[in-house]
Amino acid sequence: AGPRAAAPSSRPVDVALQGLARLEYRGYDSAGVAVLDDGAVRVTKRAGKLVNLREALEGSSESTGHVAIAHTRWATHGGPTDGNAHPHLGGRDGELALVHNGIIENFAALRAELEADGFTFSSETDSEAAAHLVAREMEVAGDLTEAMRRTAANLEGAFTLLAVHRDAPDVVVAARRNSPLVVGLGEGENFLGSDVAAFVDSTKEALEIGQDQVVTVSADSVAIVDFDGNEVTDAKRYTIEWDAAAAQKGGYDSFMAKEIHEQADAVADTLRGRLENGTLQLDDMEIDPSVLRSIDKIVVIACGTAANAGAVAKYAIEHWCRIPTEVELAHEFRYRDPVVTEKTLVVAISQSGETMDTLMAVRHAREQGAKVIALCNTRGSTIPRESDAALYLHVGPEIAVASTKAYLGQIVASYLLGLFLAQVRGNLFPDEIAALMEDLEQIPAQIQQVLDSSAKVEQLAKDMKDVTSVLFLGRHVGYPTAMEGALKLKEIAYIHAEGFAAGELKHGPIALVEEGQPVFVIVPSPRGRHSLHSKVVSNIQEVRARGARTLVIAEEGDDAVLPYADEVIRVPATRTLFAALLTVIPLQIFSCELATAKGLDVDQPRNLAKSVTVE
Ligand code: G6P
Repeated sequence: AGPRAAAPSSRPVDVALQGLARLEYRGYDSAGVAVLDDGAVRVTKRAGKLVNLREALEGSSESTGHVAIAHTRWATHGGPTDGNAHPHLGGRDGELALVHNGIIENFAALRAELEADGFTFSSETDSEAAAHLVAREMEVAGDLTEAMRRTAANLEGAFTLLAVHRDAPDVVVAARRNSPLVVGLGEGENFLGSDVAAFVDSTKEALEIGQDQVVTVSADSVAIVDFDGNEVTDAKRYTIEWDAAAAQKGGYDSFMAKEIHEQADAVADTLRGRLENGTLQLDDMEIDPSVLRSIDKIVVIACGTAANAGAVAKYAIEHWCRIPTEVELAHEFRYRDPVVTEKTLVVAISQSGETMDTLMAVRHAREQGAKVIALCNTRGSTIPRESDAALYLHVGPEIAVASTKAYLGQIVASYLLGLFLAQVRGNLFPDEIAALMEDLEQIPAQIQQVLDSSAKVEQLAKDMKDVTSVLFLGRHVGYPTAMEGALKLKEIAYIHAEGFAAGELKHGPIALVEEGQPVFVIVPSPRGRHSLHSKVVSNIQEVRARGARTLVIAEEGDDAVLPYADEVIRVPATRTLFAALLTVIPLQIFSCELATAKGLDVDQPRNLAKSVTVE
């Protein structure tokens, strides 16, 4: 939403639509916009993707107003219909429009009470109750900020709310609890968005809005109060580090393809500035080293792709630091009464920093006295703000719903954290850390090699576009890589796919293997420790003997796989642990190309959203 003084080149409705296009990855089952026009609130909304809304608005007359609010939805209460799309009108005369992200838990009681008071509902959403509530408070208070504050204080659950009212024609008022909201500071115009991508075309100056705060924005002012009505003066201002171009496709067919191809730079950016004179510098994490010395257990929590990165983190941290490390899905951790003490370090991994399941787990851990370090990509987001310390990925904005470059950034950040713990706690000698960092610094060039030789896997994906089931096998960090390869294929190509620990194969999954079943196998370096390599080579033979078509990802020069591989995809040699950053790339490319070949929308797969802000 953007209140503007004199409408410069574009109308508020266009600014709002442009913002929606940038945020569509957050949810895209319906979209809508509200403008103020000659003292009336005008709402247009449509089910489906943003293009449907654009078509509905084509040829609509100029609005006279200075403000617009808009929304793109991922349905929770009520299906994705025109009527359930936001904005919702509120009030006895439709004098207000409101958009909402999150879930209002006490909405049923509120709705009953509002209906008894004569308000009519035209949707099945929880959000419409908030619209009527703000409108009713406005009848009493006569001030939109106060009306929003009173409403927000009475809502339970998670929400970002934005409202415009015909009697307050120059402002947008917003409130947030447990759901993201940032302000963009322009000249003669200001903006509000769920993240800075919404307004990065117009300004790079942003203001973080804290928990339980109400912000009132006009063309030339921004005022913040908390839910008790106290003025807030310490909102943190910052400059967005990336360019609007970073949020555009730049010649690629999809954001996902672009983000896959950015991974060499992404990893270089995560590593940048973190090794000085042979020692690891994570000053920006701002945590007292004595805390890191006192811990006796680590729990890594995350969801989706971030959880697969967390599984890699466990292998690295236990190996280097000798601290017992568990990995758990955040939603399972939160609700099972886990053992957490003051000596537990919780590592929360989240690209967006807004995943509600992860946030709730972070809060629970801190309530039990644990220290929390967040590995996040989005600056100023809720999870790093609520953690004891944050290590940022710096991989730039990730727009495609299926995570790729952030996954690599999350793994690299986990390695940095693991090495830093080993440095602080004295588990590794300085020269060992320097040698590991030296190899890590080779990874961006090696990623580029993998990307430059992707033709084979691209062709494979096109040839396999009609497959209905794919299995992925790996051991050690190849296991989470297999899980991630399967997740990518499910997410964007809608193909039934499963990732297994290769050793587990014989305990059940091998029954799935029949003639022609495609099986990807991630092979560890033959120069690595233990007999990992030969065990995986045996597993390839086991599935092939039962008719599988084996698609093998192996190190350059590893000829031991040749007799058993129907196809070999090569990656450069690196340490066993670091191979997790290379072997996943052909799997990302495979999914992206296969989904493209099937004609699917790679960036916006059905039923998913990038940032899931409900539990
Ligand atoms: C959603 C997305 C996944 C993502 C997961 C965790 O489910 O669809 O792609 O991996 O959230 O997101 P986070 O922002 O916490 O890393």
